[in-house]
Amino acid sequence: YHVDWDASAAEKDGFDYFMLKEIVEQPRAIADTLLGRLSVEGDLTLDEMRLSPAELRSVEKIVIIACGTSYHAGLIAKYAIEHWCRIPCEVEVASEFRYRDPILDRQTLVIAISQSGESMDTLMAVRYAREQRAKVLAICNVNGSTIPRESDGVLYTHAGPEVGVAATKTFITQLIACYLIGLYLAQVRGLKFGDEIDAVIAQLATMPEQVEKVLNTIEPVRELARSLSGADTVLFLGRHVGYPVAMEGALKLKELAYMHAEAFAAGELKHGPIALIEEGLPVVVVVPSPQGRSVLHDKIVSNIQEVRARGARTIVIAEEGDESVRPYSDVIIEIPAVPTLLQPIVATVPMQVFACELALAKGNDVDQPRNLAKSVTVE
Ligand code: G6P
Repeated sequence: YHVDWDASAAEKDGFDYFMLKEIVEQPRAIADTLLGRLSVEGDLTLDEMRLSPAELRSVEKIVIIACGTSYHAGLIAKYAIEHWCRIPCEVEVASEFRYRDPILDRQTLVIAISQSGESMDTLMAVRYAREQRAKVLAICNVNGSTIPRESDGVLYTHAGPEVGVAATKTFITQLIACYLIGLYLAQVRGLKFGDEIDAVIAQLATMPEQVEKVLNTIEPVRELARSLSGADTVLFLGRHVGYPVAMEGALKLKELAYMHAEAFAAGELKHGPIALIEEGLPVVVVVPSPQGRSVLHDKIVSNIQEVRARGARTIVIAEEGDESVRPYSDVIIEIPAVPTLLQPIVATVPMQVFACELALAKGNDVDQPRNLAKSVTVE
């Protein structure tokens, strides 16, 4: 009597690919990353960061450095940090950072975002920043890896091991870590915790359920992806935090489906990229919530109209119940209503599934895409 037992299938928990398993694990990963850091009363506890409140109060400038998907988390963090903390924040790809003579001093907080904690580009940027006497805070998923060891402080994401080369659950938890840092900085600096901040903290706690909702309604995205496996190019548009989300959507498609994909800030369309639009070109648009920042929303609705009038096939990621986009959308992907700054958490998930499914339709190995490594330890 003999039982076939496949260790790798067991590790995949019944999924054919680690990437699919890791996408589905995202609600858990978010909950684990929030655990013990967010109290019911809305207070944040991040003492583990090893940076004292006094040190955090003296920060005059923030510089975020990272590579690849982690860089996109940094771009999103900038919107949140500048809005909540009113501290100027720059974001730069780590490989460019130390070669341009950046301005850093003791009042600069450098935030190095790295899933693995081993990317050589990010590590070299961290070393450079510390030589310039900046304080370095790492956001990392791997305990005791090099970047957190060489930094002044660290906030770990608790996504668990990620095997798929393309980052999914680690990206989502990096966003959570960035939001926590932004809110914590506002807290220690005594910034008025108005209604918005309280509301955001409360909403942050609901993110596992919101992502679960997205995962439960993802089937149409998979069908859509399969129908587009013959496309040569896909463009992505976004505004505000939707712009880095669009960049992440495009990166996923390049990494997994080996397709040409490019993201633009929707407002930049008219300054050049609109010339690319032709009949049938798929354009994915991330639409901000119609509530609150309606100017932003209205502007993107006109951008959708503009590309559609020129023949684009519009795939619109919009808040559930947002009727205003319906007349201009060939396909609508609905996401739950969450505050604008948190929307990347729910808006990224359909993009991950889209890229993964499209790559599978092309017969690609989504866990081990060609030419890529999980962690790049050369400069
Ligand atoms: C590699 C991976 C990417 C990742 C990047 C940064 O290029 O293929 O998925 O985003 O490294 O990795 P890190 O571990 O520093 O976040």
